[in-house]
Amino acid sequence: VLVLGLMSGTSADGMDAALVRITGAPPRLRAQLLGSHQAPFPAPVRAAILRLANGAPTRTAELSNLNFLLGQLFARTALEALKKLRVPPRRVALIGSHGQTVFHQGAPARFLGPPVASTLQIGEPAVIAERTGIPTVGDFRVADVAAGGQGAPLVPFVDYLLYRHPRIARVALNIGGIANVTVIPAGAGPGQVLAFDTGPGNMVVDALVSRFTRGRQSFDRGARLARRGRLLPALLDELLAHAYFHKRPPKTCGREQFGASYSERLIAWGRRRRARPEDLLRTATLLTPLAVVDAFHRFVAPRLRAGRRRAIGARPAPPIQLIAAGGGAHNPLIRAQLEAGLRGSGVEVVSSGALGVPEDAKEAFAFALLAYESFHGRPANLPSATGAQHPCLLGKLCRPR
Ligand SMILES: Nc1ncnc2c1ncn2[C@@H]1O[C@H](COP(=O)(O)OP(=O)(O)O)[C@@H](O)[C@H]1O
Ligand SMILES: [Mg+2]
Repeated sequence: VLVLGLMSGTSADGMDAALVRITGAPPRLRAQLLGSHQAPFPAPVRAAILRLANGAPTRTAELSNLNFLLGQLFARTALEALKKLRVPPRRVALIGSHGQTVFHQGAPARFLGPPVASTLQIGEPAVIAERTGIPTVGDFRVADVAAGGQGAPLVPFVDYLLYRHPRIARVALNIGGIANVTVIPAGAGPGQVLAFDTGPGNMVVDALVSRFTRGRQSFDRGARLARRGRLLPALLDELLAHAYFHKRPPKTCGREQFGASYSERLIAWGRRRRARPEDLLRTATLLTPLAVVDAFHRFVAPRLRAGRRRAIGARPAPPIQLIAAGGGAHNPLIRAQLEAGLRGSGVEVVSSGALGVPEDAKEAFAFALLAYESFHGRPANLPSATGAQHPCLLGKLCRPR
């Protein structure tokens, strides 16, 4: 069947759509990307999303309206994608729409008395189903949170299906607003998959760029600005001392840690030391790959080494593959620093495109698969990744007329 995945991540840069042909069932599920499409959010919509996601006060009316407006925009993006790919909507069996996260608190905290964990993705799936005529699954994260999990990350289920290999250990890295890894030891079962957020991806750099350009640019294409700057070692040391990087996985983070107030502090640091904007940008850009490399050496390599000794005895191990995806995989400075930091560790950095799903389509692709699993009534969270008490059936189905 054909399934369309729709995604917008923490960057809130826009909507990604991926059309996927899927057959079978795990472990022999086959999925092929037929094409993808991207559409940016209109500037005022992006601003509203960022305001909410950064915890600014809002009115219930704004939240409700934004939920429906995003549903309309996702529906339009779905129809545009199908038009571009010349596939009539009636041939598409299902849409899986992640929606836009505006709040995420995976770990319970006291609220009006008892501890509560919660997560909110908006972009009303009923609107998508109505406007496309295609059954739509949305709200994937809540079931996992209800079962005591963090509700994230969910993509590791798909990474495992796509990338598990009997002899090659693989690490799927996604550099979105936040950067995260899925660690799949050679020959691993689903219970041995480790997944966690390594820290900020593009979120901090995006915030700095839009500040320094007074909103004229929303990100540093090709690292053009950061490349003109110099690394500020004192700042980098301070940034890397953040408690999050030292915390043992599984762990997740978001705008709550690395959002507006984090970049405000960074800008204030720069003002006090009269640092040049391009130097701050270079330092913030390098924080992303350095945190990934640090997490790799601290938490990932020990696990993979243990697994590899078991799997292949004394024979020389094939290189570990680090499969890069997400918008940050296009950033040449991030790429170069990743490769430099992992040189000599037996790791080869490859683009997700080389393994079948291009960088920009990877997460939308994943939500097509998660919707397919949901539709067939199969659980699709990995409790080893989310911390849920048990596997869960994810998502809610909206049926069109
Ligand atoms: N050519 C590029 N050069 C540098 N950065 C890029 C490039 N393309 C995308 N990005 C970065 O990737 C971000 C979007 O990545 P994406 O994977 O969509 O993240 P999310 O899942 O959080 O929405 C942009 O905000 C930008 O920072
Ligand atoms: Mg995006």
